[in-house]
Amino acid sequence: MTRPTLTTTAGAPIADNQNSVTAGPRGPVLIQDYQLVEKLAHQNRERIPERVVHAKGWGAFGTLTVTQDISRFTKAKVFGEIGKKTELLLRCSTVAGELGAADAERDVRGFALKFYTEEGNWDLVGNNTPVFFVRDPLKFPDFIHTQKRHPKSNLRSPTAMWDFWSLSPESLHQVTILFSDRGIPTDIRHMNGYGSHTYSFLNAANERFWVKFHFKTQQGHRHWTNAEAAEVVGRSRESTQEDLFSSIESGDFPKWTVYVQVMPETDADKTSYNPFDLTKVWPHGEYPLIEVGVMELNRNPENYFAEVEQAAFSPSNIVPGIGFSPDKMLQARIFSYADAHRYRLGTHYEALPVNAPKCPVHHYHKDGAMRFFEPKTGNVDAYYEPNSFDGAAENPAVAEPPLKISGDAARYDHRIGNDDYTQPGNLFRLMNDEQRERLMDNLVASMGGVPEFILKRQIAHFSKADPRYGEGVARRLGLSVEAQAAE
Ligand code: HEM
Repeated sequence: MTRPTLTTTAGAPIADNQNSVTAGPRGPVLIQDYQLVEKLAHQNRERIPERVVHAKGWGAFGTLTVTQDISRFTKAKVFGEIGKKTELLLRCSTVAGELGAADAERDVRGFALKFYTEEGNWDLVGNNTPVFFVRDPLKFPDFIHTQKRHPKSNLRSPTAMWDFWSLSPESLHQVTILFSDRGIPTDIRHMNGYGSHTYSFLNAANERFWVKFHFKTQQGHRHWTNAEAAEVVGRSRESTQEDLFSSIESGDFPKWTVYVQVMPETDADKTSYNPFDLTKVWPHGEYPLIEVGVMELNRNPENYFAEVEQAAFSPSNIVPGIGFSPDKMLQARIFSYADAHRYRLGTHYEALPVNAPKCPVHHYHKDGAMRFFEPKTGNVDAYYEPNSFDGAAENPAVAEPPLKISGDAARYDHRIGNDDYTQPGNLFRLMNDEQRERLMDNLVASMGGVPEFILKRQIAHFSKADPRYGEGVARRLGLSVEAQAAE
């Protein structure tokens, strides 16, 4: 086999890729050695900003296969008929760690999906938990700061974490999940995924339903204890990547059963909880899981950087038949992700192969850095809209029906009138004795160096969820129940 000739990026053949051009055998090098200059300059630009959160991740391609008819709820073509297959990319991640962080860390796992549908890309950017730490997006950057490094010590700070959580009782549900057995999944094949937010479905008659998405692992759940995770990290910092990559390479394709919970539009006024509150689940007894399909991962990326690091998932990417909801957190995320992508990847990030829709794309965005694709309007004379040259035009048929909203604009206190304790208490009561013991051990293990007044404030929250929860944590910390009651 003859090898192709090595070239510069401009395509000129290269004669020698081993030796720089020097004045005499001892040097110095000449600036005219553009080959050397180009090589060094490219290396200097190999890094792009890592994701501000969820920097460490693992991704693979696969398919969604529809197994049940849900056309009574949605006209989205991705769910159009039984047997329908849609290509997808899944990227899972830890939240707080940087790009080189160890995989087996106690942290929420991201569960970001991009479905390449015939009506555009549908991104569902969820987690392996059905709820979140905060319910108002104004608190998201503050929360993330508590998970990252202290500005002076450059260390992560248990004090910051517990200070914030103890001042934010809405976090208790997610905190209880994070410190439970499910807090350190062994890998991504053995965990569930959730869309987490409430989204909307629209059917062919344009009737609106509220919907939550669930992806249940068919591999069963597996987690590490703290001690096991420490041993795993000592052995390998890439345990999740190794597991996912090797299982797909060997043909052992992980699968998840896909379900939805569906709520008729007007039920939102009747539920005892706010169905758009991201710190709450919808009880399955009231809104049962409805099976939709199977998701399988079956192809590793050929190039991790191009296809996983450059992947851009955004909750703003929806398709006809799937819409947003009034969830405040979702509303903020609709802005935040595409903004992050323009910064992290550049103006035309949607045209990168991994992000490019697999359906025709027609838009009037013009020029900008790295404009590397053809005009998208359908006609070279049509570079504005409206125009008389058969350029792409709007289609009123895909309009959503109006959504009734009301209320005076104000900064409403989201902590008033919200029950932050019943659902985490129910979760605690659902656990068996051993699970509760491990939960409370894990919590206490994370509290080293946290001042007593913060611990007492947090214990009061555990007690409100379930007296045994507060008492168990207080006892492990050597604090009396009376002390926290007095707090
Ligand atoms: C990543 C913002 C809440 C799941 C990100 C990124 C930003 C961000 C800026 C980096 C995006 C990139 O560079 O590609 C926010 C804001 C939130 C929020 C402002 C709340 C107001 C959430 C919630 C979830 C979530 C509630 C899950 C239910 C994820 C995931 C990723 C991510 C999975 C990684 C996506 C990937 O794999 O590329 N978030 N986030 N985030 N976020 Fe959020």
